[in-house]
Amino acid sequence: MIQLHDKQFVPFISAQEIDFAIAQIARLVEDDFAEETPIFIGVLNGAFMVVSDFMKHYKGACEVSFVKMASYEGTTSTNEVKQLIGLDKDLSGRSVVIIEDIVDTGNTLVVLKALIKSHNVKRFKIATLFFKPDAYLQDIKIDYVGIRIPNKFIVGYGLDYDGLGRNLPEIYQLKE
Ligand code: HPA
Ligand code: MG
Repeated sequence: MIQLHDKQFVPFISAQEIDFAIAQIARLVEDDFAEETPIFIGVLNGAFMVVSDFMKHYKGACEVSFVKMASYEGTTSTNEVKQLIGLDKDLSGRSVVIIEDIVDTGNTLVVLKALIKSHNVKRFKIATLFFKPDAYLQDIKIDYVGIRIPNKFIVGYGLDYDGLGRNLPEIYQLKE
């Protein structure tokens, strides 16, 4: 068991299971993009570890970049406006695979998809290491899912609890 801030977490998914799931995603993506040079776009902060290990398993030609979703208050309404920061590649006519650490409600993903597709990409796919089907509120398809998990809070392997836990090589689940 580990303690992060005020909460306790118990071991949930091993480093070996994570690696197996990522290797499997990499093989599926390789098959789908064999004739192309896809651009993998990791969503920071959480996805840095997934992208690193995914790239090591991916054998084909590929490029990588990272983005972050930033939100600011719109000037004419109280609505939050989301924008992409950090994109350093021209995506027009390119095939793009978004790489997420985790998808839960999917709300960020919908905005992300619209923002990326507005760059006139050729093909667009979404990969995530973890997926919480019971929390998912959207109907957009997630093309590659590593591991489906229950709707409980997890940390480790890039995922944090209030900043802590990202460095853990395996996944821990909030203790009941
Ligand atoms: N843990 C950490 N970050 C997250 C989670 C989670 O379970 N779901 C969405 N972001
Ligand atoms: Mg994330």
